[in-house]
Amino acid sequence: MTAPLRNDVGGTASEASGTGTFRADVIAGLGAARKSLPPKYFYDAAGSRLFDRICTLPEYYPTRTEAGILTEHAADIGRAVGRQAILVEFGAGSLVKVRTLLDALEQPAAYIPIDISEKHLIAASGELAHAYPRLKIMPVVGDFTASLTLPQVSGGRVLGFFPGSTIGNFTPEEARRFLVEAGRTLGADARLVLGVDLKKAKERLEAAYDDAAGVTAAFNLNLLSRINRELGGGFDLSRFAHRAVFNSELGRIEMHIVSLEEQSVAVAGQMFHFACGETIHTENSYKYDLPEIRALADASGWHIEDAWTGDEALFGVFLLSRS
Ligand code: AVI
Repeated sequence: MTAPLRNDVGGTASEASGTGTFRADVIAGLGAARKSLPPKYFYDAAGSRLFDRICTLPEYYPTRTEAGILTEHAADIGRAVGRQAILVEFGAGSLVKVRTLLDALEQPAAYIPIDISEKHLIAASGELAHAYPRLKIMPVVGDFTASLTLPQVSGGRVLGFFPGSTIGNFTPEEARRFLVEAGRTLGADARLVLGVDLKKAKERLEAAYDDAAGVTAAFNLNLLSRINRELGGGFDLSRFAHRAVFNSELGRIEMHIVSLEEQSVAVAGQMFHFACGETIHTENSYKYDLPEIRALADASGWHIEDAWTGDEALFGVFLLSRS
């Protein structure tokens, strides 16, 4: 494993999700006419543990559906990119999903995981190095939505990997910009494996974001606990509830935290008023259909070389090449 290459993340990686920005974003979000909080703040230690549990829930089909598709088609992807591919993963996290691809690539020249959390990235890269001792792992600390400089390495084709339908947490315009930037980062002959959650019946979608065991509710409300812990907030969680609705006009699941009564809450020395039923909008998760994905690829300099959607067409894995 090489030493991590640091791209500019506006200070240290920990500051990028740390208290300074957190405080400012919370005060701005709760002070707005329509209250909202950025979803990146879900992922403190408790939130990351809850997200891992979400991924195993019976209602949350994306993770296991994508894993099944990748297992079934990893060899097709391996053939499409050929020997000595350079594999680049955006928002790499715990480096688990990539193993299916690594196992199918013929003598990969290098694996470049990109993540904003340096601590997490180094720990996960160390574990992967243990399991793949011959693989050259070249971690990059950076914000994968920004312009990135990758380490120099010689090899065959470049293969980008952006699984999990994280692209769904961007607005369609942010998704387009991400794909344009990814094309620049990966280069002219690159391929990109992109996981995208697909449109389906509203009931199925809403159940995936409001599971019977209440794990997604706990994940959403953990934002208020985090504010209490880190910013001295006074939220009483019993006075708020989780809500997940599919907005069919905008094609997205919206997660909100609903105030169950009229109340005022102190956060970081300021008071915020909530009407009964008022919500804090915490996340969008856009769902796509095939024509929309084709249009998104076209608009960002990519085209769909192959597409796999599994048995019930719940989730799509797309192999994109540059157009
Ligand atoms: C990380 N992201 C793709 C998840 C999603 O499905 O939008 C986050 C999530 N929120 C609630 N459940 C899962």
